[in-house]
Order: sequence, then structure tokens, then C-alpha cells
Amino acid sequence: MKTITILGSTGSIGTQALDVAALYPQRFRVHAISAGRNIKLLAEQARRFKPKKVAIANPDLYNGLKTELAGINTEIMAGDESILELASLDNNDVVLNSLVGFAGLGPTLAVLRSGKRLALANKESLVAGGHLAMPLATDSNAEIIPVDSEHSAIFQCLQGQDNSALDQIILTASGGPFFGRSSDQLVAVRPEDALKHPNWQMGAKITIDSATMMNKGLEVIEAYWLFGLSYDKIKVVVHRESIIHSLIEYKDGAVLAQLGAPDMRVPIQYSLTYPERLQGLAPRVNWEQLAELHFNRPDVDAFPCLQLAYQAGRVGGSMPAVMNAANEVAVELFLAGVVGFLDIPRIIDAVMNKHKVVKSPGLEELVAIDATSREMARKCAVTKG
Ligand SMILES: NC(=O)c1ccc[n+]([C@@H]2O[C@H](COP(=O)([O-])OP(=O)(O)OC[C@H]3O[C@@H](n4cnc5c(N)ncnc54)[C@H](OP(=O)(O)O)[C@@H]3O)[C@@H](O)[C@H]2O)c1
Repeated sequence: MKTITILGSTGSIGTQALDVAALYPQRFRVHAISAGRNIKLLAEQARRFKPKKVAIANPDLYNGLKTELAGINTEIMAGDESILELASLDNNDVVLNSLVGFAGLGPTLAVLRSGKRLALANKESLVAGGHLAMPLATDSNAEIIPVDSEHSAIFQCLQGQDNSALDQIILTASGGPFFGRSSDQLVAVRPEDALKHPNWQMGAKITIDSATMMNKGLEVIEAYWLFGLSYDKIKVVVHRESIIHSLIEYKDGAVLAQLGAPDMRVPIQYSLTYPERLQGLAPRVNWEQLAELHFNRPDVDAFPCLQLAYQAGRVGGSMPAVMNAANEVAVELFLAGVVGFLDIPRIIDAVMNKHKVVKSPGLEELVAIDATSREMARKCAVTKG
């Protein structure tokens, strides 16, 4: 029996993780769950899974959650500190960090400090604070099992291999809803167009990141921290079908890949059961009917976010956190209809250009840098050109 805590249980990854947990009640005890604001769904999940602790990040919603959970025997907590507390509970075996954005960094570090298994969906925490997270994981002997389908694929391919002979990683990208369009054809795209992902059902922020290809940029930086190759050895190829989840190439020329239907319940389940594999919920690929798989070079002119991420990753220090903060604000403003789709890379580029890099910022410094970068992004959003 594994005791699991799910941070962000009301989101796309969190709800799918609960589907997996529900499949194996004799193996997984859901000990604690959390949400940002959605008290209705959080309460419904608490009634169903009977966790010992339930936390809501927004402290103003504490009383509302208490009312929703009247008569339920669970400890109710609120505020950002409560999420950190759930991340570091003594009896956690696995903590799934499925929070979205920079808010996931503190909890990632808290899980790693506790020496437990971190099932990591929140890529932004490694993007902004990989230099803090990776040494912490080593020092406290904590496991990081990636949940992102690409990183899970790479992690799976690496099992049992001579990884000193790893030559390069090839991350696959679906290309998103606007694959094949030129930048002129992207000027007028609306949030509702960008929210229609061809292969995956995901939260709004990552869906927009997929449309701009920033998602792949964030994943390049995530791969850098998880697998320890230089940026020159981390490539991206567009693969429209999302059947190959990523590839690795060894020095002898052998290429290994992990394939399967595009269904996040596979990497989520693997992060919880690793190294075991159990019967899963995902549909199977019909190999007889799968006529073709396609591969294309990413169009970095139409989708400059990917290059901005390589640039930020290579500069290192505080720059990836700055890029991440600017992106979070730009996506939020795009979704609110305040800026256009092409303003997203413009804002990120402008904020990165104004930043004076800090070499190895600690958590407090990163939090301050994140805040000033967000402020800067809001300013850049209104001053075009
Ligand atoms: N969705 C996917 O298929 C997928 C695939 C690969 C990687 N990922 C990564 O997984 C992470 C989660 O993505 P998602 O699509 O599941 O996002 P999502 O659907 O937006 O869910 C985010 C979760 O975090 C909670 N949350 C949001 N802001 C918070 C805050 N400031 N403090 C505490 N909790 C907060 C949300 O609560 P409320 O519901 O109350 O807002 C929700 O439970 C992201 O880093 C994403 O890049 C997702």
C-alpha cells in the first residue's frame, strides 16, 4: 500500500491521477489532496477518496471549503503554507506535484527535502529552480519520476541501459493546433482557437504553451535538468500523431523510443507504480490501422518561443525563471483577450532582454525575480514595439 498526496488534484493531471488511484484502492491510499480555488470539486474528491487532509491554496476559500465538507472527517487547511505542509508530510510515499506554474517550485523543493518520491508533472519548477531541485534530490536521496509524457518516455527508455553512452535526446512535439501556419496566419488567432489541442486534453495554460511551442521549450529545460545532457544534445522534432512520446540515441547509433496512445494516465500511473507496471486505463494503439508516422522540423520563425527557451536555458542562472514568469503573464493576458497570440513571444523576449542575470539564485531570490519579471511583463504588454 502506497500513501499518495496529490497537489493540484482538481486539475487535468490531478483528476487523471485520482482515476488511476481509484483503479487500485488496495495499492494506493490517497492521503492528502489540494486545489487552488475549486472547492466544489475538491470537496467532491474528498467525499470520494476520504483523504486525511485537504488544502485550498486561496485562504479566502477556507470557510467555503469547510461548509462543503461539513460532516466529513478530514483536516481542512488553507493558504500556500498548507500546500507546502502537504508536500512534506512524514507518511507520504509519493507526492504528485500537478500544480501549474511557478507556484509548484516551493512544493517541489519541499518534497525533495523530505527525501520522498516526487512524481513531477509541474515542469515549471525545474525550469525556474532546477539548480536548486537537482542537488537537493541527490543530497536527500529523493526520487524524481517525471510525469510529462516526453520525460517519462525518456526515463522508461533509460531503464537498464549504459547511460554513460547516451548521445542525444529527441523530444517529440505535436506541433499544436497551428502547425503549418506562418506568423502572418497567427496574428489574429483567438484563445478559443488556441485552446483546441489536436491530441491532448489539458489545462488551459499548458494548452496555450503547446500552441506557442513554449511547452516544448519548457520541456527542453526540464530534460536538461533531469537527464544531464547539454542543450546541443537535446533536440526537438514535430511528430503530429503523438504516438512516439520521445526518443533517445546512444553513441553506437541505437535509438530507443517509447510509444503508445496519447493518454496521460500511462505516465501518471508509471510514476506511482515504478518500477512495477500494472494494467492501465489507456486505449491501445491499433498498429494494423496506423498507416504512417510523420516527422517535421519545428518552425522557429512562426513559433519563436522554442528558441527563446533554448536561449534562456543556455544563459542559465535566473534567466529560465524570468522567461517562465514572462510566459505565465503573457499566456494569462492572451487568455483574457488583452494581448494577441504573437505578443506572447514578444513580451517574453522583451522581459528577458531587460533582465540582468543572477548566477545561482536561492529560493527567496527566485521568488523576488519571478515577481519583478511578472511586473515587467505586464508593462511590456502595454508598450508595444
Ligand atoms: N494536462 C496535461 O496533460 C499535462 C501533461 C504534461 C505536463 N503537464 C504539466 O502538469 C502541470 C499541471 O497541468 P494541468 O494541465 O493539470 O493544469 P490544470 O488543469 O490547470 O490544474 C492545475 C492544478 O493546480 C491548482 N493550482 C493552480 N494554481 C495554484 C496555486 N497558485 N496554488 C495551488 N494550487 C494551484 C489548480 O487548482 P484549481 O482547479 O482550484 O484551479 C489545479 O488543481 C503543469 O505544469 C503542466 O505543464 C500537464
